[in-house]
Amino acid sequence: MKEGFTVNLGNLLLSLSESVDMANQNSSQHQLRTAFIALELAKCLNLDEITIENIFIASLLHDIGKKIDSEESIDYELQCKRGELFVQRVPLLKSAAKIIRYHFLDWKDWKGSIDKPLTISSQIILLANFVDMMISRDRYILHQVDNIWKELVRLEDGFLNSKVVGGFKEISTKEEFWFDLTSDRLYSILLHDGPLKKKEINLDELASMGELFKGVVDFKSKYTITHTTGVSACSEMLGNLFGLTELEVKVLGIAANFHDLGKLIVPNSILEKKGELTREEFEIVKSHPYYTHQVLSSIGGLQQIVQWASYHHERLDGSGYPFHCVAKDLDTGARIIAVSDIFISRMERKSYRNEMGRDEIYEIMKKMGRNNFIDMKFVDLLFDNFQIIVNYIHIKQEKTMDFYRNYIEHTWREDDIY
Ligand SMILES: [Fe+2]
Ligand SMILES: [Fe+2]
Repeated sequence: MKEGFTVNLGNLLLSLSESVDMANQNSSQHQLRTAFIALELAKCLNLDEITIENIFIASLLHDIGKKIDSEESIDYELQCKRGELFVQRVPLLKSAAKIIRYHFLDWKDWKGSIDKPLTISSQIILLANFVDMMISRDRYILHQVDNIWKELVRLEDGFLNSKVVGGFKEISTKEEFWFDLTSDRLYSILLHDGPLKKKEINLDELASMGELFKGVVDFKSKYTITHTTGVSACSEMLGNLFGLTELEVKVLGIAANFHDLGKLIVPNSILEKKGELTREEFEIVKSHPYYTHQVLSSIGGLQQIVQWASYHHERLDGSGYPFHCVAKDLDTGARIIAVSDIFISRMERKSYRNEMGRDEIYEIMKKMGRNNFIDMKFVDLLFDNFQIIVNYIHIKQEKTMDFYRNYIEHTWREDDIY
C-alpha cells in the first residue's frame, strides 16, 4: 500500500452529502441543490474565496444533524446544534460548523451588519434551503418560479436580508440557473465548477471524515451507537496482531468506519424491529453494503477502502451479499472486517435479543469458519487474544459513548435511551 495518498475534498463531500440526501427520500438531492443555490448566490455577491468555500461545505452538510427517518416533528434549533457538534470535530470543517449552527436564524435575530462572514453565509444557506424546500419534485421547474419569487418578496427583511434576496433575484433570472439546479447532472456540475475542485486531503483528514460519518450512521438507532466503533477497533487489533503495517492498519480502521454507511437508507423500523425480519425486510437490509460501495466508489481514489468497507457481508463460499464474492476476491482486510462485524454484532444487545457471551459467540463463529463462510484464522486470532482485544474495543466504545452522552443524547431521543 502506497503512502502519500490523496483524495479530492469536493468529491468526498459531494458523495457523503448525497448519502444523507438518499436517506431523506422525499426531498431528493436536497443538500446538493442547496449547495448549488448557495454557491451561485455567494459568487454573485462577490464574497471572498474562503467564505465561498465555507458556504459550499456548510450547505453540503447542513442537514447532517437531522434525525433521519424520525416521525417526530422537526426541531430546527436542535438539528442545527447537532449538525455543529458533528462537523466541528473535523478540524478541516470547523468554520463551516458555525454556519450550520446558524443557518436557520431569521434576519431579524441577527445583530449588526449583513456583511460579517458568518451572518451573510448563514443567510445565504437559509435562503438556498428555503428555495429548494419550496420546489415540488413533480412539477416542471419554470412553472414554479413566479411563486418562489413571490414568497421571497413576502419574507424579505424579517426572515431574509434584502441584499441576499436581491442577489437571488439576479441569479435566478436566467432559465439556465433553474435547469442546472434540477439537472440529474448536478453532482458533476458541482464537482467541476465548485470551489473545492483542487482541494486534496490526506489520510488523516479522510480518517476524521470517517469518524464524522460513523456517528451520523450509528446514532440513527439506539442499538447501534457504538457498533462501528467496535468493528473498527476490533479490525485494527486483528490487523495489528496479524502483522499488517501501520499504514494498512490505519486504512483498515477507516474502511471499517465507513462499512455501514449504506445503512443510512435502511428504515429504523427495520433496524430496530423486535423479532425476526421478514424476507421482504431482509431484502431491504441487503442493499446497505451496495450503497456503501456506491457512495465510496464515486469519491475516486479509494479502491482499497471501498472493497474492505463494502464486502463485510460477503462470505468465502460465495453465499454472502450483495456481490456474492468468493474467497479469491476477499483479501485480508475484507476478511478481517467481516469477522469483526460478526463478532461485534453478537456482543451487542439487539431489539430482538440480549448480548451473547464469549463461549456462545465462539461456537457460532467456529461453525461459520468450518462452513467456509469466514476465515478461521482470524476467528482463532480473535479468540486467542480475546481479553486484550475486548479491552481495546471497550476503551474505544466508551469514548464514543461519552461523546454521545455528553453532547448528542440531550438533543436526540430524550425519552428512549437505555
Ligand atoms: Fe453491515
Ligand atoms: Fe456492521
